[in-house]
Order: sequence, then C-alpha cells, then structure tokens
Amino acid sequence: MDVDRVRSHFAFPDLGRVATNNAATSQPPRELLRLLESLTEDYDNVHRGQSSASRRTSERFESAYDTFAQWLNAPSRRSIATYRNTTEAINAVMYMLLTQFRDGDNVVTTMMEHNSNFVPWYGMCHEILPAFGRRVECRVARFDHATGALDLEHLAELVDERTKLVCVTGASNFLGTKPPLRTIRAIADRSGYVRDDGRTGSLLLVDAAQLVPSSFVDVQQLDVDFLAFSCHKMLAPFGVGVLYAKEQLLAAGRPFLYGGDMVAEGGVSVDRVDYNDLPWKYAAGTPNILGVIASARALRLVVDLVSPEGAPRWFDDDRPLPRSVVAQAMHRVGGHTRSLTELAMQEAMTIDGLRWYGPALGTPRAPLLAFTVDGVDPIRLAEGLNLEGVEARAGCHCATLAHRDLGLNPPATCRLSFALYTSADDVALAMDAVRRVVRDLRPLAPRATGAGGWTSGGRS
Ligand SMILES: Cc1ncc(COP(=O)(O)O)c(C=O)c1O
Repeated sequence: MDVDRVRSHFAFPDLGRVATNNAATSQPPRELLRLLESLTEDYDNVHRGQSSASRRTSERFESAYDTFAQWLNAPSRRSIATYRNTTEAINAVMYMLLTQFRDGDNVVTTMMEHNSNFVPWYGMCHEILPAFGRRVECRVARFDHATGALDLEHLAELVDERTKLVCVTGASNFLGTKPPLRTIRAIADRSGYVRDDGRTGSLLLVDAAQLVPSSFVDVQQLDVDFLAFSCHKMLAPFGVGVLYAKEQLLAAGRPFLYGGDMVAEGGVSVDRVDYNDLPWKYAAGTPNILGVIASARALRLVVDLVSPEGAPRWFDDDRPLPRSVVAQAMHRVGGHTRSLTELAMQEAMTIDGLRWYGPALGTPRAPLLAFTVDGVDPIRLAEGLNLEGVEARAGCHCATLAHRDLGLNPPATCRLSFALYTSADDVALAMDAVRRVVRDLRPLAPRATGAGGWTSGGRS
C-alpha cells in the first residue's frame, strides 16, 4: 500500500496533525468534500418529487444502499437500513425486537461492549419491558483480564433456551479484542431457544463499529442476524450508521420509526396501514440523503485509495462492487493497520511503567492501543500528547463496564488508534511523544491502580 499516495487525498497531514484518534472518527478525504458540493446541483428530496433533480438524487440514494449491501456481501439492499450511527442502529434493533420478547427471556451481552451495545439492553430489561410487566434478564459475559479474550465458556454458560439474542462486539474499542464470531454463532445456534417460526437458536447481533474500518466483513459467511457500523469511522462525514439484518427479520419486524415514505403508496387508511417494500419500510421521514450517498462513495473510495496505480476505479461509479474487490482492499487495509499497531506495541514495551490492555503482541486486534502509565493520570497524558501535536483520547471510551471490571482508578486509559492513512512515521512520532510526556509527568501525578494487561515490567 502506498501510504504517501493515500495521505495526499487528505488535509490533515499538511496541517501537521498526527491524527491518531481514528477509533473515535476518521478524517474525510478531499473527494468527499467535493462530492458533497457537486451533489447540491441536484439538491432535492428522495422519493418525493417528479423533478429530474429529485429522480437523480433518489437513484444515487438507492444505489448507496446497493453499495452498503455489496460491501458486507449482503444478498441485496433489502437487508440494509440506515440510521444516524451505530448507536441508533442498535437501538433500532432493540425496538424492532421489543415486542417479541417473552416473559422470562434473556439477552446475553459482554463486559467489553461499548455502552451503545450494553445500555440499550439494560434499558430494555430494566426500564422499558418491566413497565409492561415483562421480565427479561440482561446477562453479561466476562473477559480475561490478562489477555482481553472474551470468556467463551462463561458466554456459553449464560446462553440458554431462554436467550432470544446474543449481542457482541466484533472488535472492542478499548481492548482491541476481536471475539471469534463463528464460535459465538455456534453457541447462539445451540441455545435451544424456540423462535416464533418454530426454528431453534438465538439471534446474533454484532457491533461492527470497530471491525468494519479495518477488516473484510462478510455477513453471509459469518451468518449474523444483525450487524451495525458507523460510516464516520470509515472516511465518511458524520451522521450515517448502517444496519444489516437478515431480510426475513426486517420483513417480519416492527420498524423503530413510523411515518412518511415507510408506507406503501396510498396504503394508509384510518384502520389500516400497509408498509413499503424493503428496505424503505425502515426509512421513515426524510433521511440523511447527502450523508448516505457520501458514505457509500467513501467505501468505494477506500478501494481506490489502497489499490495499486492502474487498477480499476470505483469511486465515481455505480457498478456493483465485487466481493473479491472489497475483500482484497480490506485485506490491504488490515495488513497495513496491523503492522502499525505492532509497531506501537513494540515501542510501548520500552516505555517505563506503561501497561497496555487487551491481546498480546501477535494476537489479532483492532488497530488501537489503550494504556495507562503508573503514576500518570490518562487525561493529563492525552493533554500532554496534544501539546506535542499528537491526537489521542483518554477516558473510558464508552467502554465503562470493562474499565470498571479491570478496577481502573480513575476508570480511564489513554488510547491511540490507527487508520488506513496512518503512516509508520505517525506511530513513531506518537510513541516518542508518549515517552517524553511520561518522563515529564511521571514524578508529579498520583498513582493509577488497576489490574490486567501488559506492562513494560512484564505481565501484571
Ligand atoms: C465498538 C463501538 N461500538 C459503538 C460505537 C458507537 O458509535 P457511534 O458513536 O457512531 O454510534 C463505537 C464508537 O466509538 C464503538 O467504538
């Protein structure tokens, strides 16, 4: 991968930014900013006008759904819904399934989830369903504090014949752990839960917010029932999350939002409402039209950015994206970001008092490294890095359960995270800055406490 060429498409390198907070959000390439401007020539609503502008915008919008489906190797756009972000997509699944839970059912999630894949289930089990007199339990599987691995035995113990849904991250935004989704699929399949259609097995939802940006994800191969990701972590502007769901679930499910465009043309009377065809049944109200179009183009641009000179280009085009093209591009991105993460880990091992969390060097992980340094407040560390021009994030990264479970006090780590445009120089600069800031802060700050992870003095 020619990283210099990739970087030339972005503004941040010329501004001297060491953009290493990509797990929060990625940087936008210039092509997308130009695209947004050009889309204003046909600026109009979708499915709501006979003008050529409205028709062209509708075509681009619909074709974006095709791109999302092709990116995930979903059978068709009928399996795709768009929302504001991953959080809203997961909430949409919660509302879709809400009325299907039976008294005594349970949901199994994990201690390493982002709050957006725990709090909706907490809210459903502790607040919403009890208000309707229904008891549904929220169970939480442990992870190994030393390796960051999900405790699959514990997960399998929690999943039983009353487990309607298993919700798991595809990659933790704090530990970096990538739980084995096929094994989890098998655990969900074996649960013995009897579905409304008589088939057995629990549904599986994957939070892929940190998985999609650096991996090839094939929803049919993984056989997931629901999968969500945010396009703003994948070069696109803010405001679009994609939900994949098996078509039969969307066909049978209740939408999260009711209103215009999600109904069949003329299909509304006082006593009866007929819904639109998929996927528009899940597109109530005017959607984020430009955001959706730009997000699909962002995915296409990823392929162009990481492919060799002379390879076919996809950004400016609506041709179907073959699975092999997406797979090859994302394997390139995965290989590049993996080598950057390993570089960061090797450097981290040489910094006194530094302890990172999650999988050891050599074990697959998302391209991020969260760490603490004995005696240094993570927030002050990130602020110090900012003064050195290095963008980091400190806090619990919305992975509050995992920080508390590890006994971190304060419940915070400092995190560096990498993207397809991150260079080895960025990583070296960032880790040199960590070394300097730690040297300056270490004698001053209170001792942080906690357990787990790898320290430069050996495994704790
Ligand atoms: C693993 C994971 N899940 C969910 C989210 C929520 O994403 P969003 O804020 O786009 O809804 C994030 C964001 O950082 C994340 O890392």
